[in-house]
Amino acid sequence: MIVEFLEYTITPCSAIARSMGFLKSSIEVRARYRRCCAAWQAHLDHTRESILEAARLSKGRRKAVLFGAGLVHDIPIRELSGMFEEVVLVDIVHTISSRLQTAPFGNVSRISADVTETVDKLPELARTNGKLPNHMPQLLLLDDRVDFTVSVNLLSQLGWVPGWYLKRSHSKSAIEEFQRHLVEAHLEYLRIIPGHTALITDYQWQTLPTPDAQTRLGLTASEPWDVLKGRRLPAPDKTWDWDIAPAPERDPDYNFVASVAFFRDWKDSFQKNSQVF
Ligand SMILES: C[S@@+](CC[C@H](N)C(=O)[O-])C[C@H]1O[C@@H](n2cnc3c(N)ncnc32)[C@H](O)[C@@H]1O
Repeated sequence: MIVEFLEYTITPCSAIARSMGFLKSSIEVRARYRRCCAAWQAHLDHTRESILEAARLSKGRRKAVLFGAGLVHDIPIRELSGMFEEVVLVDIVHTISSRLQTAPFGNVSRISADVTETVDKLPELARTNGKLPNHMPQLLLLDDRVDFTVSVNLLSQLGWVPGWYLKRSHSKSAIEEFQRHLVEAHLEYLRIIPGHTALITDYQWQTLPTPDAQTRLGLTASEPWDVLKGRRLPAPDKTWDWDIAPAPERDPDYNFVASVAFFRDWKDSFQKNSQVF
């Protein structure tokens, strides 16, 4: 609790990331990681291995870009730093602990940015109940030194904080349409950014009762629910489960499990465009 409070207080970030709740959300993920790191380990290992597998497919080794890397739990920093001339971590919030963790690597830098490029418009739109933006991200699109980009466990999160923030000003359907747009625009962005691209994302969640809750209370597993706002994906190269909130993290009787998909060559998968998954 004190660690989180300190991290919240001293992490440098934009006023908008702080006021809209992005910083709070990052500190919460960090705190959950501290509580659940044993349960997360298999997922973190899969993610790191997958990033390296995709990185090896990159034709050039100049600049590697990692979207959603502000917490660096799942980023193989040392290996990427050795493989590429430059490694750029992009996130709306880079916590102070991840800044310290990556500081020893001279070729690793950070960009503090909203990868949807819509967030700074939301306070005014919330005040006026204005039409929510429809925007294609531009960051790094013209940077021809970018040889490799991977989006790391970020896609399902893009609409999360904005969804909460807009709750009082916008209808459920307007928010859902905007969240769907954020998912679609990010997938298209990964298609057009220079170099080789890869995607790692959770796509559905499910609650599974603990063995005790099954026998004592007769609880059963929920149906999985989609976390990509209806955007079906092409067939992934690999999938795994992420024990994201084992009981009693979110519920004393249920484990929350996320299903994660990996696309080692997103441009190729996107081109096939079979939304089958
Ligand atoms: C669940 S975390 C991803 C897992 C993370 N890589 C880790 O190490 O645990 C989601 C990340 O997405 C970032 N994020 C959410 N919305 C964003 C946005 N619009 N632009 C950039 N980063 C964003 C959060 O700050 C957070 O670091």
